[in-house]
Amino acid sequence: MFGLKPVLAAARISPEGGMKSLLAQVLMSESEKEISGGSGSSDDDELGYYHETVLLEEAVHFMAPTSGKVLVDGTLGGGGHTEKMLEAGAVVYGVDRDPQALEYAGKRLKRFGDQFRPVKGNYRDVLKLIRESGLEGVDGFLVDLGVSSWQFDEAERGFSFSKDGPLDMRMGDTGPTAGDVVNGWEESELARIFWEYGDERSSRKIARRICENREVSPYLTTTQLAQDIEKWCPRMGKRIHPATKVFQALRIEVNDELGALRELLDTAADILNPGGRLCVISFHSLEDRMVKRFLKARSAKEVDRKEWPAPRPNPEYHFDLVSRKPVTAGEEEVSRNARSRSAIMRVAERVNKEARN
Ligand SMILES: C[S@@+](CC[C@H](N)C(=O)[O-])C[C@H]1O[C@@H](n2cnc3c(N)ncnc32)[C@H](O)[C@@H]1O
Repeated sequence: MFGLKPVLAAARISPEGGMKSLLAQVLMSESEKEISGGSGSSDDDELGYYHETVLLEEAVHFMAPTSGKVLVDGTLGGGGHTEKMLEAGAVVYGVDRDPQALEYAGKRLKRFGDQFRPVKGNYRDVLKLIRESGLEGVDGFLVDLGVSSWQFDEAERGFSFSKDGPLDMRMGDTGPTAGDVVNGWEESELARIFWEYGDERSSRKIARRICENREVSPYLTTTQLAQDIEKWCPRMGKRIHPATKVFQALRIEVNDELGALRELLDTAADILNPGGRLCVISFHSLEDRMVKRFLKARSAKEVDRKEWPAPRPNPEYHFDLVSRKPVTAGEEEVSRNARSRSAIMRVAERVNKEARN
């Protein structure tokens, strides 16, 4: 079933409008946040602080917004990237799973009227939105992955081990919570996600202890789990809290973050008009590796195999790389916003269908 719901009447689509080192870095920046209490300031005092947008100028430059273009921001959040693209004259569909993000961005971007089209849903479903709205495609698609500072800082959302809250961690308002995973999954499955998504060396030990303890009292809060992990795996002078990796793994699992990105990449060629840009900002190596491999496979003009006498045209040549090297934050941004240190942006452009082999 189609999962995207426009949240405002103005959001309706009008026919003419259409519609291991990296991991360590991100973990370090979350840990620094724990120490510093986060960073950044709001552009709008009335609205209050929500999230400090990363790679703002860079992302907007590559998305090349102009009047007449229809762009999608698949991770609207506080609307930082979207605002700049609207200011440049583009129509922007802002997609987010989190109703609170849509509420905040809706207020911030109200002045753009029908030019801004907020959509509640998962960015993995954007192709359906485009098809249902009768559009051929869009002129750019941006995703800035992960959680917003606001989500992370709200104890009620259960993302942070430094604040007592329910063990939730859902970006949206549906589906199983982190508590459901921790209290219901088999030991081997817990160990697998702690290892695969968190790179947690003590994955098996932590999974075993969780399963022993939950028999006595189920895990209900963030601090209950974080304190137990700290007991089993003492800090021993490390800056990173011992629960950091397990919390990251649970968040990735609960929100199926890798599955959503995979689906976006698989449909990206159909989503974009020729010349349309795909910009992906990721914050850990699992995501970035997926994007890098995808773009390598889809930007090769030819493919070769040992048994072939000569290379052949690549039937999946869909993109040209816009920047060969990934785009990262400059020193000034990193000094202002620790989270930006682990941001990696990759950009590619949908090739003209005629240009393809
Ligand atoms: C890092 S924030 C984006 C911040 C935004 N670029 C800004 O400048 O304010 C990520 C946002 O994406 C949303 N999000 C993450 N995964 C999503 C998905 N698969 N579908 C829709 N929204 C998603 C989160 O709820 C969060 O609000």
